[in-house]
Amino acid sequence: MCGIAGYIGYREAYPIVIKGLQRLEYRGYDSAGIMLYDNKIIISKTKGKVSDLEKLMNSENTKEGTIGFGHTRWATHGIPNDINSHPHVSNSGNLVIIHNGIIENYDSIKQELTKRGYTFQSDTDTEVLVNLIEEIKKTNKCKLGKAVQIALNEVIGAYAIAVFDKEKPDELIVARLGSPIAIGIGEDNKEFFVASDASPFIEYTKNAIYLEDEEMAIIRKDRGIKIRKIKDDTLITHEVQQLKMNLEQIEKGGYDHFMLKEIHEQPHAITDTYRGRLIANKGIIRMAGVDDNIEKFLNANRIIVVACGTSWHAGLVAEYLFEDLARIPVEVEYASEFRYRNPIITDKDIVIAISQSGETADTLAAIKLAKEKGAFVFGVCNVVGSSIARETHAGAYTHAGPEIGVASTKAFTTQITLLSLIALKLGKAKGNLSTVDYQNYLQEMELIPKKVAELLTIDDKVKYIASIYKDVPNCLYLGRGYNFPVALEGALKLKEISYIHAEGYPAAEMKHGPIALIDENMPIVVIATSKGHYEKVVSNIQEIKSRKGKIIAVVTEGDTQVKAIADHVIEIPETNEAFTPLLTTIPLQLLSYHIAVMLNKNVDQPRNLAKSVTVE
Ligand code: AGP
Ligand code: GLU
Repeated sequence: MCGIAGYIGYREAYPIVIKGLQRLEYRGYDSAGIMLYDNKIIISKTKGKVSDLEKLMNSENTKEGTIGFGHTRWATHGIPNDINSHPHVSNSGNLVIIHNGIIENYDSIKQELTKRGYTFQSDTDTEVLVNLIEEIKKTNKCKLGKAVQIALNEVIGAYAIAVFDKEKPDELIVARLGSPIAIGIGEDNKEFFVASDASPFIEYTKNAIYLEDEEMAIIRKDRGIKIRKIKDDTLITHEVQQLKMNLEQIEKGGYDHFMLKEIHEQPHAITDTYRGRLIANKGIIRMAGVDDNIEKFLNANRIIVVACGTSWHAGLVAEYLFEDLARIPVEVEYASEFRYRNPIITDKDIVIAISQSGETADTLAAIKLAKEKGAFVFGVCNVVGSSIARETHAGAYTHAGPEIGVASTKAFTTQITLLSLIALKLGKAKGNLSTVDYQNYLQEMELIPKKVAELLTIDDKVKYIASIYKDVPNCLYLGRGYNFPVALEGALKLKEISYIHAEGYPAAEMKHGPIALIDENMPIVVIATSKGHYEKVVSNIQEIKSRKGKIIAVVTEGDTQVKAIADHVIEIPETNEAFTPLLTTIPLQLLSYHIAVMLNKNVDQPRNLAKSVTVE
């Protein structure tokens, strides 16, 4: 995600921007930087926190200037370091940019600009964009606003940008596609604030405009704002909103907890995960970490997944995906067990390490052991430049954005999204998937974010179910096939935030013990989607029913058979069997969330838990 904060007006910009960046640190950061203009461009940027930037500013630079902007980075291209921090400057030194998002086609643009003599200091996609704008401005002899508009029609990806031109120092250009931008309007239109959300300027003004996707704003000191459509330059007006939210509500995007915000971010996060990697209409899945090592993947004897917690559950889904779609044998190991059991590993093995934080000690240790024993290790992480990302031979980032809630939600669905793409790519390359099936999977993956968004509207129904079962002492979760790991994940969610004892089982396993637990006081969540052993699961439900267990069934919309026997039914949209975990997990996340809230638990920071377990 990352944060943008800018100011143009009559006050000193520095205190406004630096405090604004502090307010935005919850959006994730690995580095921070600031640009001020006081008859010259002053830029300070550093790896680390906003407090590190403040120290740098105090030691190095003047802080004058009534126009400026700052950035807290959540790296996507280029590890977190000083050089890759924003702002980035064009080759002429005249243009300065900060950017939240991903420019997917930056590499081809960078090659073209390099041919034209441009040089690059950083590894970021953002530095390419500012030089593209410069090249367009130069060749078209146009103003910054026009150059930005032309450039944004050439790039593919997501952005919230702010751009400054030393030759027009009374102006800021901002534009957005896929990443938010709020514009605060000061008294008498004498000052303007730009930011990723209203938290940096809420204390100065409650008058705000929110840019829509594919819109840009030219903001001129003392002359006001012009908003245009990036596509065709048409002028548009936005109603100025009177903000009602307080600071804390803004940080949580208006949700009561970060966990709920992150549950609702999943359509966007899944889109960001496949953005630039999945081009369904061309039948392309591209992922540098896999493409550069494709022979290793295709010739692997087996894949060993090492992970912990929710990431381990994503690994279990990956087992079904890789064996089903790519016919590659998979073993899924708790990293904490793997690292101590002297596993048999050869150089024909691929180890996939899954970790949201990229800092889990057991997973890191498992990676080191696997490397010592000659395996090729591939990382699936959410944090760019994290220890695990740096320790693995190759990898791919989930681009889920910072996950603040201790209970993993969007990390799980984005891990599965990424692993699905890899399994599909390998399945096609190994000839296990026909072109038609492959194409159908790709097209269905593009529909998943919309189906997740549709599914999130069932919140009231889940809340009602939560109100009935919030005081139970125990709960069982059952699923088969692809949804067995989802049953485990649903149980973990309930355990970790409501402190209710919950267990997940393969549905068929119930008869081997757990069924003894079932009576009229036991709720059983059963995933009974139409694809994946449906009839068998229905039999399991019958068995539960005959013992008076209370059944909360997750079914495919239109189901009638389970509806007739379950106590509660939650319907998910139709999808193929392999992608059902991306949908069935949503109601289970919401169920645990609402029960925990009704029990007044600390949802975002449950007792005894840490977001990243960096110790054994
Ligand atoms: C899941 O909700 C928990 N936060 C926990 O199990 C977590 O998944 C586990 O600690 C692994 O963390 P990682 O993905 O950052 O490695
Ligand atoms: N893609 C840009 C980078 O990696 C911006 C990332 C962000 O949103 O902070 O620098």
